[in-house]
Amino acid sequence: MILKLKRTPGIYLVGFMGCGKSTIGRALADELGWSFFDLDAEIESSASSSIGDIFDRQGEHVFRALEAAALARRVKAVQSGRPQVIALGGGAIMNDKNFELVSNHGVVIWLDAPFELIERRVAAESHRPLGRDLEKLRELFDVRCPRYALADFRVEAPEEEPMATVRRILKLPLF
Ligand code: S3P
Repeated sequence: MILKLKRTPGIYLVGFMGCGKSTIGRALADELGWSFFDLDAEIESSASSSIGDIFDRQGEHVFRALEAAALARRVKAVQSGRPQVIALGGGAIMNDKNFELVSNHGVVIWLDAPFELIERRVAAESHRPLGRDLEKLRELFDVRCPRYALADFRVEAPEEEPMATVRRILKLPLF
């Protein structure tokens, strides 16, 4: 395993809504025998509220503050040496401090799924506040991709068995 991962054993999965971060992250953690954490689930449990409700009742800025705090807690656990795969919400690394934090404490992997697949998945689900307006989705995708491209690695995540994507991650020069 590369030295950076030995020192700070965190693998952060980033990418747009619906690219498969949680499904693939869980399967990757299973393969590695590491813990898995979904940042959105952590936010929901710490706030005792769904993400939709946080957005609707308190606004996106409150959600972003909770997200930054949840990420800082996760990174602390990574710093203490607990190996973990963490799936971040699609907007988390748009915040420079969050991006710096994950880049400096492990390895950041962008799951790059084609927009057509993302659009289909997001349209089929109703829990994402920023997925309600499908017209704006493409715009958001285009704004975010350059940031995702700053990840340490880019792994294609087309429509396939999650394990196929996991195998591609396991072939990266990390392990
Ligand atoms: C968001 C993505 C969501 C969630 C929140 C905001 C975003 O997570 O964090 O609804 O800004 O892209 P997923 O990427 O897991 O859907």
